[in-house]
Amino acid sequence: MKPEEIERMRDEALDAFAAAGDLDALQAAKVAHTGGTSPLALANREIGALPPQAKAEAGKRIGQARGAVSKALAGRQAELEAERDARVLVEEAVDVTLPHDRVPAGARHPLTTMMERVADVFVSMGYEIAEGPEVEAEWFNFDALNFVPDHPARQTQDTFFVQGTREDGKPTVDDESGIVLRTHTSPVQARALLDRELPVYIVCPGRVYRTDELDATHTPVFHQIELLAIDEGLTMSDLKGTLDHMVKALFGADMKTRLRPNYFPFTEPSAEMDMLCYVCRGESVGNPDKPCRTCSSEGWIELGGCGMVNPRVLVACGVDPEKYSGFAFGFGIERMLMFRHNVEDMRDMVEGDVRFTRPFGMEI
Ligand code: DAH
Repeated sequence: MKPEEIERMRDEALDAFAAAGDLDALQAAKVAHTGGTSPLALANREIGALPPQAKAEAGKRIGQARGAVSKALAGRQAELEAERDARVLVEEAVDVTLPHDRVPAGARHPLTTMMERVADVFVSMGYEIAEGPEVEAEWFNFDALNFVPDHPARQTQDTFFVQGTREDGKPTVDDESGIVLRTHTSPVQARALLDRELPVYIVCPGRVYRTDELDATHTPVFHQIELLAIDEGLTMSDLKGTLDHMVKALFGADMKTRLRPNYFPFTEPSAEMDMLCYVCRGESVGNPDKPCRTCSSEGWIELGGCGMVNPRVLVACGVDPEKYSGFAFGFGIERMLMFRHNVEDMRDMVEGDVRFTRPFGMEI
């Protein structure tokens, strides 16, 4: 075993370590030059067969060579690890200024927030929120509210009847079922009077249905808010004051309402309620220089219906009309959203495009 051979083995190992460009290559070089079958390991094994003098000498040389090899290995290992760590720090650095959340937070629909805003006005006056089913008995939707049996609203061109089953198991023709999708929130009036202790002060937001085609000003599914106050001694001036308070709270302190005679079966007298035009505040009336698109220069916007609860409704719900009286009103939320926010097409409210919803803000 010549000294040059041992030096060559050592130098080959040192060259291989120096040439290893990464930790994987170094690992391969380590196996090749220090493993059990590496030239130096094999040489080491041969020492035993040498005569004593040669054994000591060869042992010393090989020992030194292996020492140099493992030192070089450790040195290169440290170098390559330091390089890797430095590279990882750069390559895997996190840019904390990047947008971290590309999924926008959800938010409620402007119709929902509008409905809550209106309901809150009444809750702050002590009213309670009341709700009723959307699939409603015809009795609550019509009969209890004094709609005569042949009232046009009861026909299938206005009302969705839910198909029922006759005693003989056959499906009913639509309008025999006695079950409808409620056409207004007014049936909650009757439910509240039957369920609650008097006096009753409730506000009922909810979804209602009519057999309209979806277009710019109609939708078959829409929302209403209903108000009902039944107590001793309530009069029409309480109704008027309540309406005025509502429009002031929602549209500003200079707002007011006016009532125009109308007919609803469940109120007597009944009125159509208008509010001052929220855009021109009435200034467009008789003023051709300042026309108003929102109210067509009429100065008023129609909001909904109202009136003093018809004694027949009170009787149908077990309330003594000699002792109690009260008022009710109801209006559509879609319409209010339209004129409050200049929404021109109702379809925008139902189609779910966030480009419509976003400008309303992200109220949660
Ligand atoms: N329910 C009526 C509708 O959908 C609106 C209405 C009118 C509600 C008069 C009332 C009321 O409470 O008193 O057209």
